[in-house]
Amino acid sequence: MTQAIAVQKLGPRHRGDIARHLIRLPAEDRRLRFGQPTRDVGIERYVGDIDFARDRVFAIYAEDLALAGVAHLALDSHEPHAELGLSVDTAFRGRGCGAALLSRGVLHAANQGYGALYLHCLSENSVMVRLAARAGLKTVVAAGEANARITLNHAHGGALREAMEEQFALVDYLLKQQVLLIGRRTAAPQSPGKLLVDEMAAR
Ligand SMILES: CC(C)(COP(=O)(O)OP(=O)(O)OC[C@H]1O[C@@H](n2cnc3c(N)ncnc32)[C@H](O)[C@@H]1OP(=O)(O)O)[C@@H](O)C(=O)NCCC(=O)NCCS
Repeated sequence: MTQAIAVQKLGPRHRGDIARHLIRLPAEDRRLRFGQPTRDVGIERYVGDIDFARDRVFAIYAEDLALAGVAHLALDSHEPHAELGLSVDTAFRGRGCGAALLSRGVLHAANQGYGALYLHCLSENSVMVRLAARAGLKTVVAAGEANARITLNHAHGGALREAMEEQFALVDYLLKQQVLLIGRRTAAPQSPGKLLVDEMAAR
């Protein structure tokens, strides 16, 4: 049975984590993610420009609480569609992280009332094209680019489902935080209750 993967919703305080994840990507993966070669300074500018009031950023935490995967869901209330870009750390590929991030983006976009979700990638990106197809996106290839699209309806959404995913993600984060703290044998470990209160307050 495939293990469920917890996907967190990030905020502006996570810009540093997002940048570190993207900067860890090898040059070829950065090209696949952004459609062109992208230097560290370009990544930092991109992350600094993310509008968290409008867009959503979803991520998967590794055991050490570094980000194993990140998806940026671009939302524009003047547009009828949402747009997703994602990346997964090379050490975490082939375990369903990409599929989990894509599915989370579809769920959120549908719940926000968007009629469609787009994903643009280079046509040579066979992993992403297969991933999109499995998630039900229809891909059109033209001039070296692949544009994948899914029409959203109520079946892709569900407020309760999204609330449960958020709770699952919170528990997953707190468990990983606890395991890390225990592993580090900190002199004065914080209580799980305090960590929960701190995390809830930060959301
Ligand atoms: C594209 C990308 C996000 C995919 O991430 P991923 O986490 O490896 O994706 P998944 O694991 O969900 O699926 C990828 C493959 O792993 C397989 N897989 C999924 N779950 C699996 C599991 N539990 N065990 C083994 N294999 C699994 C899938 O079948 C798929 O295989 P296939 O390509 O042969 O069909 C990642 O390769 C990446 O970051 N690439 C660079 C950036 C990029 O291209 N971004 C897309 C443009 S926006």
